Amino acid sequence: MDFLIIRKKIHGFKKSLNIDGDKSLSIRWALLSSQSSKKCKSSNLLLSEDIINTLNCLKKLGVKIKINNNFCEIDGLGLNGFNYKKNLVLNAGNSGTLGRLILGLLVHSEKNIILKGDKSLSKRDFYRVSEPLKRFGAKFKTNHGKLPLKIKGTNNSVPISFYENKGSAQCKSAVMFAALNTFGETVIKAKKSRDHTELLFKYLKLPIKILKKKNYDIIKIRGKKKIPALNYKIPSDISSAAFFIVLTALSKKSKLKIKNVIINPSRTGILSILKLMGIKILKSNIRVYKGEKIADLTIKSSQKINPINCPSKFNSAAIDEFLLIFLVAAKANGVSYFKNLSELNQKESPRLIWGSKILNKIGIKNILTKNSIKIFGNPNIDVNKKIIIKSFLKDHRVFMTSVVAALTFGGKWQIHDKDSVKTSFPSFLKKIRYLCAKS
Ligand code: S3P
Repeated sequence: MDFLIIRKKIHGFKKSLNIDGDKSLSIRWALLSSQSSKKCKSSNLLLSEDIINTLNCLKKLGVKIKINNNFCEIDGLGLNGFNYKKNLVLNAGNSGTLGRLILGLLVHSEKNIILKGDKSLSKRDFYRVSEPLKRFGAKFKTNHGKLPLKIKGTNNSVPISFYENKGSAQCKSAVMFAALNTFGETVIKAKKSRDHTELLFKYLKLPIKILKKKNYDIIKIRGKKKIPALNYKIPSDISSAAFFIVLTALSKKSKLKIKNVIINPSRTGILSILKLMGIKILKSNIRVYKGEKIADLTIKSSQKINPINCPSKFNSAAIDEFLLIFLVAAKANGVSYFKNLSELNQKESPRLIWGSKILNKIGIKNILTKNSIKIFGNPNIDVNKKIIIKSFLKDHRVFMTSVVAALTFGGKWQIHDKDSVKTSFPSFLKKIRYLCAKS
């Protein structure tokens, strides 16, 4: 049975949790390690389907990988070291990050490779990466900008100047990966987005220069420098922690501590937005690990939630958390407004539209446009009816957000596509059961 039934609200829990490893860092660690000329080790690697697909793609490209629970060892092949047969087919599954970033590494692989993905990924835009990567010298044949696509790399790539204007870390990182193996200086002017790739390059002492401006960064990379060993303990994913942060804030008489969460400012949009909405989250044990900021977070039930006219400057740092933020706005004491969010409809499913669908189902008035949503909050929201959630594209974040809504707003829920949690957060339901169990 691939659905979950929830008929009871949760309240009164006081617990502490560890969350799975960060998805963005797990994928980046694996891809970058494949380019190292050394053996690389990681612990607390997220072993979700997106990362398993990453490791399978790398294995097909000739990379030797050992996994033991959440420990993983990759024998890097060095720059341009992939070794594979012509017309190799790589499957990125559901993962936009894998599909887009790996293309950056394939720009230099001369034998044809076909890249495909699942139903959801095959609906997403790949022109955003094939266009800049072509300029390095690779040839692409896409299905009208989508997957499946064919790439034929070049052994003679040239550096490019690229303006990344969507605020997409995937586009920025794909170009940064391509620059690694290109003689000369690649220059990227990038609208602000998560900066894990930059921090990893800096930690590895690769030749990267970053000039931070108010709304964008200038990133300069000189390629062809050998990549040393990348040993990494992956911190917990704030995008996964977010489900439990919002669950606690919206539940009565509850308190939760979540340990070792990534609080890189390019990821903490949700914390800034919730703070403006009056939700208090305490950060403790703040430290920096290989360039990434990490902390323990303590969240308490929130008595009163303020509506928000959400500043767009938080959009990119909260991009994966908006479905949850819309639930918080549903319980606010007034009207909230979120704008400039067209990128949300480019995710695993059109999430701005799905945000509105979930709100409609729980009886919260909202006005949706192509890039914005106005939400008429109700602090006394109490759902009393039967609700069925079945997203055509089986979006993991639609499933997990619906679970949070069911547990905090009440009603009789039947939430489909339970298996989708395997994409990013395999232990999600185990953790929900742990919070629901009487302590
Ligand atoms: C990611 C970047 C974001 C985010 C995705 C992970 C990454 O996508 O939504 O879940 O790891 O670089 P975009 O770069 O398309 O905004």
